[in-house]
Amino acid sequence: MDKIIVKGGRKLSGELEISSAKNSCLPILAGSILCSGEVILHKYPKYDDVTNMIEILQNLGGKSKVQSQSLILDMNNISKFEIPRELASLTRSSIFSLGAILGRVKFAKVAYPGGCEIGARPIDLHIKGLEALNVKIVDRRGYLTCDGRELRGGNVHLDFPSVGATENVMMAGVLAKGKTKIFNAAKEPEIVDLQNFLNKAGAKIKGAGTSTIIIDGVEKLGSVEYTPLPDRIIAGTYIIGSVMCGGDITLTGVKTEHIQSLISKLDNNCCKITIKGDRIRVLSSGKLKSINKIETMPYPGFPTDLQPQIMALETISNGTSVIVENLFETRFKHVGELIKMGAQILTEGRSAVIKGVEKLYGAEVVATDLRGGAGLVLAGLVADGYTTISNVGQIKRGYESIEKDLSILGADIKKVES
Ligand code: EPZ
Repeated sequence: MDKIIVKGGRKLSGELEISSAKNSCLPILAGSILCSGEVILHKYPKYDDVTNMIEILQNLGGKSKVQSQSLILDMNNISKFEIPRELASLTRSSIFSLGAILGRVKFAKVAYPGGCEIGARPIDLHIKGLEALNVKIVDRRGYLTCDGRELRGGNVHLDFPSVGATENVMMAGVLAKGKTKIFNAAKEPEIVDLQNFLNKAGAKIKGAGTSTIIIDGVEKLGSVEYTPLPDRIIAGTYIIGSVMCGGDITLTGVKTEHIQSLISKLDNNCCKITIKGDRIRVLSSGKLKSINKIETMPYPGFPTDLQPQIMALETISNGTSVIVENLFETRFKHVGELIKMGAQILTEGRSAVIKGVEKLYGAEVVATDLRGGAGLVLAGLVADGYTTISNVGQIKRGYESIEKDLSILGADIKKVES
């Protein structure tokens, strides 16, 4: 298994362009199932989750090729409707392909999804939402077998603003007969991106980014060319890393309005942040004051996907901070690994109390999940000595090459193939 080795102590500096958003590309690839034509995605990112999603599309009859930074999909012959366990278990995004498969082929048989082990990650809201659109679902032996021949628009009230369930129902409504309304919809920017992609292909969707989304069913979607949003979580990861190390970095191609919740926590507290268009400059002395309290919330609140990274920052901040993880019930698996590096963290249920320490010490740690692994890399940037991170396949699911990115910014980091 590959490992990442980080030697702590370097300040970060330099400029880095941010790649496309994983959590935009995955639903957009699912949405491409609805398109009877060619789908061209520019600046497509080579994250493992995206590669797995392309394999799912190929298994349904899609054809794909890459031309420099663009992914070209031929979605004319989508006739199959099954996502077997060995593919579905690779990524969470297999579940929200369900709505698109039903819209296009009227039948679907999808195994339970995979994704980061950060909680039970039930799919009840997905099932309830699709049943409200008159889909008949049999949930047995880890498979959802669905009959969408009578698929029609309807009203869906989500008990929780689930990102995936919002996307799933949105896509099921695109080719359904009649109007679909989603209430208490998730408002993440990636959902707006999915709406823009589908509308460009001929869909009629409005309201994404608000808690009520309306979809007017259409007959068919055609070809589409699209460039996804930049990844706000990758941008946030590297902003936090530079604040921890001290230094002067500039990230380009960033939608800074999408990370306001992070900027408001850091600016003038641990660093100076300057924004010019899609460029964000972070100047930091590395002298950090603890942030009293951070609560993860649905967008536009503080993103759960930056929780392990901001926890790494708090382990070396001056004072004590509390982090409350409201989205996922077991998203603290990285705490044990940070403690191996000398962090002082106490967890109780969904809360973690972090007492800042003078310094962390390099250690051998394990990436427990995608963003937990990213948090460990950040901790390694400031730890005394060498930190070796194993199970880095988890990190590759959402970062093309975190070690290459951070090397460009001056870190002493490399991947060791074993
Ligand atoms: C998406 O996951 C993201 N993944 C996650 O990013 C992100 O953490 C999450 O949204 C929250 O922002 C992708 O977009 C591929 P949810 P998703 O449904 O859709 C509960 C990363 O690191 N829930 O919004 O699975 C669920 O248990 C990943 O990039 C139900 O109860 O998240 C959780 O408590 C990790 N029933 C809450 O909703 C359901 O049917 C939020 O989950 C669905 C969800």
